[in-house]
Amino acid sequence: MRPEGSSLSRTVFGRRFQNPVLLAAGTAGFGRELDGVIDLDRLGGLVTKAVSQEPRAGNPPPRVAEFRGGMLNSVGLANPGLAAVGADHLPWLANRLRQAQVLVNVVGFTVEEYAEVVSGLTGIPGIAGFELNLSCPNTTAGGIEFGASPDCVRRIVSLCRARTPLALIAKLSPVLPDIAGIALVARDAGADGITVVNTLPGLLHSEAGVGRLGNGNGGVSGPALLAIGVLAASRVVERTEGMPVIGVGGVRSAEDVRQYLRVGAALVAIGTAALADPRLPERIVRNLESSRG
Ligand SMILES: Cc1cc2nc3c(=O)[nH]c(=O)nc-3n(C[C@H](O)[C@H](O)[C@H](O)COP(=O)(O)O)c2cc1C
Repeated sequence: MRPEGSSLSRTVFGRRFQNPVLLAAGTAGFGRELDGVIDLDRLGGLVTKAVSQEPRAGNPPPRVAEFRGGMLNSVGLANPGLAAVGADHLPWLANRLRQAQVLVNVVGFTVEEYAEVVSGLTGIPGIAGFELNLSCPNTTAGGIEFGASPDCVRRIVSLCRARTPLALIAKLSPVLPDIAGIALVARDAGADGITVVNTLPGLLHSEAGVGRLGNGNGGVSGPALLAIGVLAASRVVERTEGMPVIGVGGVRSAEDVRQYLRVGAALVAIGTAALADPRLPERIVRNLESSRG
């Protein structure tokens, strides 16, 4: 990361981000849903929801359940698929944004699927890079998440590296026993950055004993992830000796953003808190600007 003067702008992945605040994957769709609600171009950028090779209907409802510690979700990576995203959603975003950068979140259920999505979208104008969601279950290896296997991480990142000159960012789960070790594997396979953290696995039932999510279990997000994400970001920055890190998890205020920046994160993404209050990220940007003196 190269900070510029005393402003909030910075060069990361060879691109200028006017400030470090991003919208996290899966919580801002492809930006259209927020058009007219917030000024997307005031943000550092937006990470799209996951894109898979084929369209996905996602999991049965309910897909989210709130509890005191945050939120449990199991959206099931619902998305219109590579062809529709490339033909419609990304061109709309490119046309709409002048300043904010776009990172495309990518999922696969096989190693090859990640590379197919990356190569299918490379060449579409307006994309700064790809965030590879490595928390996806590997359907050819019993459903263990890709990110838990150094060999899968190496193969996914290097296959994608061969298919795109754009930035590649590996997004990792907080449950990995050695998250910084996996970050090193991703770096050595050609990744340009690391995003930490994805959601934590969780399960809740109603008083009647019925699962609160249509899918059964899901991912925990929200306030409790702040300290978990900051530790993960700190470990990855240290072990990779300064690789660009996108910190995500539990951010609700400018001070929470600074928690990630203090440990060396280059960019910080906001998810659950922006779902509850879509104008929050813009307010956080204003707050960061005004507190720079
Ligand atoms: C409803 C919802 C959908 C999400 N979808 C994705 C996704 O498509 N890809 C991904 O990598 N992460 C996804 N995430 C994880 C977020 O990007 C983020 O890593 C996580 O929620 C922690 O940040 P937060 O505490 O600010 O929400 C999703 C989270 C939520 C709450």
